[in-house]
Amino acid sequence: MDSRPLILLRPVKDLTDHRGGLSVIEKAEALPFRVRRVYWIHGTKPDVARGFHAHHRLRQLCVCLAGSVRILMFDGQHADWVMLTPSSGALDVPPMIWHEMHEFSPDCILAVFADAEYDEADYIRDRDQFIRHVHSS
Ligand code: TYD
Repeated sequence: MDSRPLILLRPVKDLTDHRGGLSVIEKAEALPFRVRRVYWIHGTKPDVARGFHAHHRLRQLCVCLAGSVRILMFDGQHADWVMLTPSSGALDVPPMIWHEMHEFSPDCILAVFADAEYDEADYIRDRDQFIRHVHSS
């Protein structure tokens, strides 16, 4: 297995001035793929956790636009947590990382930029199957 860091936060430029906030993600350092799909998670009910899957090929960048959410990243061997907020940076979620989203604040808006259209066949939704897959490759 490779030893890439589990938590990679890419830079979000803050152009806030006296008028209010303006944030930018640009350049390959911050957005290292062509975006083919954008979706966002909002109005999450209390005590709801989401995710609980990995993707075979999909790469995503998660940006918390408001509120906060705690995200678990698991590569089949090591797990780590990160708290995303509007000032934390953008979380790079590469393929073959099991991810779970917990503790959404009621005002959380989590935007996700993805490098491909939705494809259910790209999901691994069973954690044991994910672990087997990681250890067999
Ligand atoms: P899912 O990925 O299971 O959500 P989460 O991992 O956040 O719990 O998606 C929920 C439902 O929405 C599921 O039926 C698939 C569908 N969906 C789309 O049709 N298009 C999309 O871009 C996404 C992200 C989900």
